[in-house]
Amino acid sequence: MTNLMDFHTHILPGIDDGAKDVDISRLMLKSLADQGATLVCLTPHYYHNQETKESFLEKRAAAYAQIEAYGKELELTLALGSETHLTRDLASERDLTDLCLGKSKLLLLEFPYGCEFKADTLFQVERISNNCGVTPVLAHIERYPQLIKKNSKPLAELFDIGCYVQCNISSFASNKKLIKLLSDGIVNFVGTDCHNMDSRSPDFQAGVKAIKQKLGESFWEGFLSEMRDRSKRIAITQPIQQGGQT
Ligand SMILES: [Fe+2]
Repeated sequence: MTNLMDFHTHILPGIDDGAKDVDISRLMLKSLADQGATLVCLTPHYYHNQETKESFLEKRAAAYAQIEAYGKELELTLALGSETHLTRDLASERDLTDLCLGKSKLLLLEFPYGCEFKADTLFQVERISNNCGVTPVLAHIERYPQLIKKNSKPLAELFDIGCYVQCNISSFASNKKLIKLLSDGIVNFVGTDCHNMDSRSPDFQAGVKAIKQKLGESFWEGFLSEMRDRSKRIAITQPIQQGGQT
């Protein structure tokens, strides 16, 4: 495989429940490079109700400094970002742009487990979109039955707000609904959501195989090329500045 892009990873060492040290981070990066990845977004969990944004950004920069050189050695473009958990007070932040993917204004936004996407949740997302200078990317929508059901009303409303959609690549091997969403053009980004080299490793193989089997090789190539264009347009692929702050 060539020109893969991973928009959701927990590769940065020691910052969340992802890579526990730099050795694991290096193995994860090497695995992605060997599979043909060219762009890797580094998206550690951020919980606004547990930590200030400033403290998170400091930790993120320090973790990034430990793998920056190795990423260059592997000729990977690394883009800093976050997987920001939706909390009630998140929208009170005036600016969330420094949590976005690379130099874009795209915020990978995670919803609580079991979220039913009622009016209050949708209102929070709208506030974030209107007040915080960012466009949400809905992280791994396959986790939320309310979003992947047929003619999902909340998903339509989230699109009206301007949200993008991310799916975990491994889910395509086991979830037929996702294949349908992909073929309908609903999915904008995929990622491995890798956390380690064991149970949640950076693995594109099974998901890509399922997509190619169900939708054909040329569909997958077309989707990759759309993601590439999208990532360029939103400037994710521009180099990140020294120290990791974008
Ligand atoms: Fe994640």
